Amino acid sequence: MTWEESTRQKMLHLKLPTDPRWVGIAEMQIEEILVDHAYCEQKAASSCISLILRFNDLDELVDTLTPIVAEEWGHFERVLEQLRKRGMKFGFPRKDDYVIKLNEFVKKGGSRIQHLTEHLLMNALIEARSCERFKLLSKNIADQELQKFYYGLMISEAGHFVTFIELAKKYQDPEKVTARWKEWLDYEAKVLKNMVVRGDRMH
Ligand SMILES: [Fe+2]
Ligand SMILES: [Fe+2]
Repeated sequence: MTWEESTRQKMLHLKLPTDPRWVGIAEMQIEEILVDHAYCEQKAASSCISLILRFNDLDELVDTLTPIVAEEWGHFERVLEQLRKRGMKFGFPRKDDYVIKLNEFVKKGGSRIQHLTEHLLMNALIEARSCERFKLLSKNIADQELQKFYYGLMISEAGHFVTFIELAKKYQDPEKVTARWKEWLDYEAKVLKNMVVRGDRMH
């Protein structure tokens, strides 16, 4: 099975494909996309750091997430490099309506492990959606350097997606994880459906 096929099997968990108009309008606003993307990488690194600090007693979690922090920060550096190369400014973070909406779905209360599961599943979902969007960029934009750049990132984020799901199933009953994952997928599809398609955001 090729990497693309195996990823498709794993990634097609997503219930709603990205609106086909998105990639065209994103390409026209590539500076905005790169800035928003840089912050996505920063948030991915920060969120892993938060989990490491909050669940510092879970050795496998700490040991698995620590190198992911470094990878996400490496992605941040590489996006920044793409901006600098093009004479583009980094600038302030943009409002992230997608992540705000996903955060609203995180279950409050419950056990510590339930909290961990919620955050790992939310992270997995963001990885899956990012992977889908990177794939669209790598296949559709004219800039060949960015095509390659996004193809590489797509592979890396797919790996993170798998890691987050596996970690969730290590610390929580896998059947419960699967059931909750389905709820997250349905919710994400609703969020996306209700969002205006805009080319200045990665999500
Ligand atoms: Fe990343
Ligand atoms: Fe990632």
